[in-house]
Amino acid sequence: MIEPVMYPGVFITFEGPDGSGKTTQIKRLAEWLRERGTEPILLRQPGGTALGERIRAILLDSRSEEALGEIAPLSELALMFADRAQSIRQVILPALAEGRVILCDRYTDSSEAYQGAGRGLGTDRVLAVHRAVCDDLQPSLTVLLLPDVEQALKRARRRNERYKQQHDGADENRFEAEGEAFYRRVHDAYAAIAEREPQRVALIGPGTGDDGIEAIATRVREVVAERLAAARIGV
Ligand code: TYD
Repeated sequence: MIEPVMYPGVFITFEGPDGSGKTTQIKRLAEWLRERGTEPILLRQPGGTALGERIRAILLDSRSEEALGEIAPLSELALMFADRAQSIRQVILPALAEGRVILCDRYTDSSEAYQGAGRGLGTDRVLAVHRAVCDDLQPSLTVLLLPDVEQALKRARRRNERYKQQHDGADENRFEAEGEAFYRRVHDAYAAIAEREPQRVALIGPGTGDDGIEAIATRVREVVAERLAAARIGV
């Protein structure tokens, strides 16, 4: 098992259902860190490496099913982890060894929520693949944005429409085309992860007193600053 504490860097992941506002919050946090003299490494999964971007295109463009036939749930899981293994090797471990702060948009919790719960492959199977393929590398901190299901679905649909208009009909819609039941499973799986691993996972969402972009950004900064202080990175 790779323990992040063995490295001087800090590995922070951002999680949440589609439309949870992760991208906005990552941008805000990155700006805040830069203002304080820390240039973060930004990464997204799937993607973030040359191989990963190709895997991303296969996985996320809903038109790929026409060309490729249905992607089997286990193929989907394996592709997600092929992407992850590549970014661990090419980006995450070298950055951690250099003492950098990594902000990663999605990681294994996404596979647990989407493939494990959404597609019904089960948490145990996903975590077994994680141990085998990622050497069980865990983030130092996971910021989980978990808004209300209905609200998140609305935002995800709006965003996908915008993307389609700008990208000549191509969409990132394969996941977002899933029905509400799928999203409820994803949502509940995230809530269960937060409950299971309160040390690693900072849950931010309705009911935790954090509402609106500003309040969430403030809360994200607080939890991140705390974790960086523990790693002796001053901000
Ligand atoms: P992305 O456009 O990055 O979504 P968002 O901006 O909402 O984060 O697309 C990532 C999609 O891939 C998203 O629907 C979740 C899905 N996904 C999985 O199903 N499993 C995984 O392991 C990962 C990393 C992503």
